[in-house]
Amino acid sequence: MKTLILFSTRDGQTREIASYLASELKEIGVDTDVVNLNRAQEISWDKYERVVIGASIRYGHFHPALERFVKKHQHVLNHLPSAFYSVNLVARKPEKCTPQTNSYTRKFLIASPWQPDQCAVFAGALRYPQYRWFDRLMIQLIMKMTGGETDSSKEVVYTDWQQVASFAQEVAQMKQKSAD
Ligand SMILES: Cc1cc2nc3c(=O)[nH]c(=O)nc-3n(C[C@H](O)[C@H](O)[C@H](O)COP(=O)(O)O)c2cc1C
Repeated sequence: MKTLILFSTRDGQTREIASYLASELKEIGVDTDVVNLNRAQEISWDKYERVVIGASIRYGHFHPALERFVKKHQHVLNHLPSAFYSVNLVARKPEKCTPQTNSYTRKFLIASPWQPDQCAVFAGALRYPQYRWFDRLMIQLIMKMTGGETDSSKEVVYTDWQQVASFAQEVAQMKQKSAD
């Protein structure tokens, strides 16, 4: 049996975190499949003993595909041992990087019909050169307001890979739920 890692990304950082998670899990003997949630069609759930979903924030929201996916698969998601991680730039601030203190994640968990067993919030990446001019301007403005990097020639990865490695340990320890 494997662990399924689904990710929803716009600029690639959530996929990078999914790959890192997969490599950490592999080291502790856990096999994974890493799949883009936006492209996941039919999933053979019986192949999997656990599921992890990761998703990033853009302009205050997760991709709408996340909500659709969770609604469609809520029964299996609640039945399997499961974990969620969110990725955003607000989480670069230590006081905003837990599921309780990160407002995007807190709101998601309150509204979601799926209640994951584990949850983490990871700081994402800032990649000015890759953004379209409007996005670059908006992010620059947000960074200015929140005391972050404003040099638009820069790429900064804020992800704490040690935090991702600890999350992998938590994921590996998630136990099968009793059937009721
Ligand atoms: C256009 C745009 C809008 C964003 N909006 C937010 C936001 O509202 N709040 C936030 O914390 N981070 C925001 N971010 C930062 C992203 O969440 C961060 O770059 C993350 O690493 C993106 O993950 P991805 O590459 O998997 O999509 C935004 C980034 C971009 C490019």
